[in-house]
Amino acid sequence: MKIAILSRNKKLYSTRRLIEAAEARGHEVRVLDVLRCYMNIASHKPQIHYQGEVLEGFDAVIPRIGASVTFYGTAVLRQFEMVGVYPLNESVAITRSRDKLRSLQLLSRKGLGMPVTGFAHKPGDIQDLIKMVGGAPVVIKLLEGTQGIGVVLAETQKAAESVIEAFMGLRANILVQEYIAEAGGADIRCFVVGDKVVASMKRQGAEGEFRSNLHRGGTASIIRITPEERSTAIRAARTMGLNVAGVDLLRSNHGPLVMEVNSSPGLEGIESATGRNVADIIIQLIEKNVGHTSTRTKGKG
Ligand SMILES: Nc1ncnc2c1ncn2[C@@H]1O[C@H](COP(=O)(O)OP(=O)(O)O)[C@@H](O)[C@H]1O
Ligand SMILES: [Mg+2]
Repeated sequence: MKIAILSRNKKLYSTRRLIEAAEARGHEVRVLDVLRCYMNIASHKPQIHYQGEVLEGFDAVIPRIGASVTFYGTAVLRQFEMVGVYPLNESVAITRSRDKLRSLQLLSRKGLGMPVTGFAHKPGDIQDLIKMVGGAPVVIKLLEGTQGIGVVLAETQKAAESVIEAFMGLRANILVQEYIAEAGGADIRCFVVGDKVVASMKRQGAEGEFRSNLHRGGTASIIRITPEERSTAIRAARTMGLNVAGVDLLRSNHGPLVMEVNSSPGLEGIESATGRNVADIIIQLIEKNVGHTSTRTKGKG
């Protein structure tokens, strides 16, 4: 097969591992910087151009689109879908997963467990908003935050009110969430490929830190997940329409709660914590699906 990887840098761990795994299985791989792709959408024959060349003959495309280039990146991916290239994750599913509110709405519609979550825009709603999610302590999140930045634990009603007022004063979109204290500063990353969880790890926040992000000093270790956690992760990925996803769960005393579904989950943390060759499993899924599974939306989203 001829596989395109949409990635801004071929030296990144995940990109490197996917290249290695694909080449080891006898495929031809080309890494394309998504921002350098340009497209012809006016004609009946859509095209993708790259440095003066028309890109042709690809069987599959692996999107590794960073959060900062979602808009243009998904447009390029949609163009690949329109010319009939199999996308590992569809553009529509990636767009959904990048919007935390839309994701939570989709997951709740399917009855998946998640922390009680409120979102609002005007300061007049603050007290009721906090009451709605069960009162302090609450977790307040900036919608566009990543790597734990912009995630705050407000332990009292007063603290919650001031943080919400401050964020709203900055016109930031926020989400207010029930604090799952019993998770003990840990979460579980389930790496879903196809309809299986192929690897999972526990991330534990540093001493005195409720955020488990590795970027905030958290540590990763291998973990056995329960059948309920496994099925929750698989259903979450399927609800989003993602073939490959990193589903983050919190262990609450009423079962697993979905916190986030990531459409470009990194391979470095999970491969080193579990020793599994996740990149190879991803390439195998592409081999299985190319030519058999058409994209559900064919770039129409
Ligand atoms: N409702 C919550 N209850 C308990 N811990 C939480 C809650 N929400 C987030 N956390 C902790 O904070 C971390 C960062 O939150 P998250 O929503 O994943 O933001 P980001 O997108 O910045 O990673 C999570 O990994 C988790 O450890
Ligand atoms: Mg997170």
